Amino acid sequence: MAATNPVVIAIDGPAASGKGTLSQRIADAFGLAHLDTGVLYRAVGVSVLRAGGDPADNAAAAKAAYALDPDHPILREVELRTDAAAQAASKVAAVPEVRAALLDFQRRFTQHPPGGAPGSVLDGRDIGTVVCPEADAKLFVTASVEVRAERRLKELRNRGIPAIPSDVLEDMKARDARDSQRAVAPLRPAADAFVLDTSALDADEVFARAVAHIGSKTGLRPTA
Ligand code: CDP
Repeated sequence: MAATNPVVIAIDGPAASGKGTLSQRIADAFGLAHLDTGVLYRAVGVSVLRAGGDPADNAAAAKAAYALDPDHPILREVELRTDAAAQAASKVAAVPEVRAALLDFQRRFTQHPPGGAPGSVLDGRDIGTVVCPEADAKLFVTASVEVRAERRLKELRNRGIPAIPSDVLEDMKARDARDSQRAVAPLRPAADAFVLDTSALDADEVFARAVAHIGSKTGLRPTA
């Protein structure tokens, strides 16, 4: 009898749409492994900066991407959460070789979810369109750029990181533009994604709608 493929839930969306929080909750609720794929791009961006390179330089970015493996200590560093890391991430993310290297990394994760989990939740920008076009359920989580900038501001302040509201909004717009307009794997909902606009929803409402959609697509029920 053929072995069943591990289940894959794809959650995409722009910066600060709430997809990270949602993905972790979904993974916990269904007993699945979680991969925040933005962390991979952030790690590549920060590696290039540390080596004194330019994140937009194809060769430097590709070298850093191929050097990344699941046990690399940089993946757990708090510096990855800074805005400088986010900006560097969106630059290396436009380099085709970086995307190719990280594609392998992400697919290995879905084929062999860590901890013996029966499947995985991946969140990012292109999971439903490029990384896992065959995902069992796809969600595209979004919100207006103003709402997202407000959320990011709160998040930064909660972490004690000083931030100027107009700068946060401008950075968010710059990253949105880079992510949506790049030639490779631009940010867009997959044709079969369930689009969830969270502008007027709180985290519990978003979670409830996501659970209902995933249940309808996979037959899975929350275990936690
Ligand atoms: O947390 P936030 O949504 O602000 O960003 P992130 O998910 O950590 O992603 C940082 C950057 O990595 C994004 O702006 C994208 O340019 C890039 N990225 C990507 O291109 N593809 C992914 N699957 C995930 C992130």
